[in-house]
Amino acid sequence: MEIRKNVAPEFVLGAGALDLVGRYASNFAAKKVLVVSDPGVVAAGWAEMVIASLRGANIPSVLCVGVSPNPRDDEIMAGADMFLAEGCDVIVAVGGGSPMDAAKGIGIVATSGQSILSFEGVDQVWVPGPPLICIPTTAGTAADVSQFAIVNDSARKVKIAIISKAMVPDAALIDPRTTTTMDAELTAATGIDALVHAIEAYVSTASSPVTDLHALKAVQLIPANLAAAIQNPNDMNHRDPMMLGSLFAGLAFSNASLGLVHAMAHSLGGLLDLPHGMCNALLLEYVVAFNYMGAPERFAQLAAAFGVPPEVGADAQKAALIGALCNLRKAVGLGHGLRKMGVRQEDIPLLAQHAFHDPCVATNPVQPSVGDIELIYERALDEPR
Ligand SMILES: [Fe+2]
Repeated sequence: MEIRKNVAPEFVLGAGALDLVGRYASNFAAKKVLVVSDPGVVAAGWAEMVIASLRGANIPSVLCVGVSPNPRDDEIMAGADMFLAEGCDVIVAVGGGSPMDAAKGIGIVATSGQSILSFEGVDQVWVPGPPLICIPTTAGTAADVSQFAIVNDSARKVKIAIISKAMVPDAALIDPRTTTTMDAELTAATGIDALVHAIEAYVSTASSPVTDLHALKAVQLIPANLAAAIQNPNDMNHRDPMMLGSLFAGLAFSNASLGLVHAMAHSLGGLLDLPHGMCNALLLEYVVAFNYMGAPERFAQLAAAFGVPPEVGADAQKAALIGALCNLRKAVGLGHGLRKMGVRQEDIPLLAQHAFHDPCVATNPVQPSVGDIELIYERALDEPR
């Protein structure tokens, strides 16, 4: 067995986990908390519940909502200034991947005084941030358990990855109730993002028996519940397993890393500011088609976990898995190609260059050329294939 390191934060899972934030902040001896969120989560009422729980523990807080989807370097630097100016000593993030990644960045900038862009890469964070509590409100990103933070370098228009044990939150309070206020499109895009986490972790060249277990379980849970969660947004019988699936996928990818879908999605998010989950959803089938013969047994095991009937021969099994992924994408309302998102043919060379240099490519089961990546973007431009 190859040697593999695994990290995960303390996490509390279940209805009511959010209400524990006051107690957790108190355990970290918080004097004042910076609550990082976004306008949608504030409108849904979850940020106010966090602030009320903190107030109940006699902990004052200040709200930072200056975070856009695909959080930018300048927003993180401004958040760190706010943390210091307000005399905060603990950070709570409540929201999807953007506020959580921003909060991770704010923490390490506040303690180091360095530019957020100086931490790009693997294990480049030498001084940890202040205590960080994450409360996810999507069943998708799993930034609440991962050692990844993705930040938009606004000058270069590329997303940088900061991957470090120091980016693992100190506690994750995972409350599936918070996912009921997501609309259908956000539920779909974030749910497919979680599925991609599991698939890419399972075929990653850095996978291990521990990450395999989590990835396969996520691939059982997510396709079985995603469409129903969209149709019945308040039914916890589907929201609960989606949150569990997202958690399992997060534990898998945080430790096994990702692959070419994420590399290509990061490039789209950086250059064109497109939503992360949607990019993943529109790329997945095409990358699986490219990768399949690099790990046919692994993909066949994923197909079985997904519930795809077994086929004789790798070609037939590949077609069956890709067909199932396509059906799922359409069933959750994502029946379009990248062109509808504003991607143009002439964007593809630069998109492919950026994706080729993304760290997620390193663990993809097949090493692509820039030309391979260009072809995949081209295939994903229009629906149908
Ligand atoms: Fe993702």
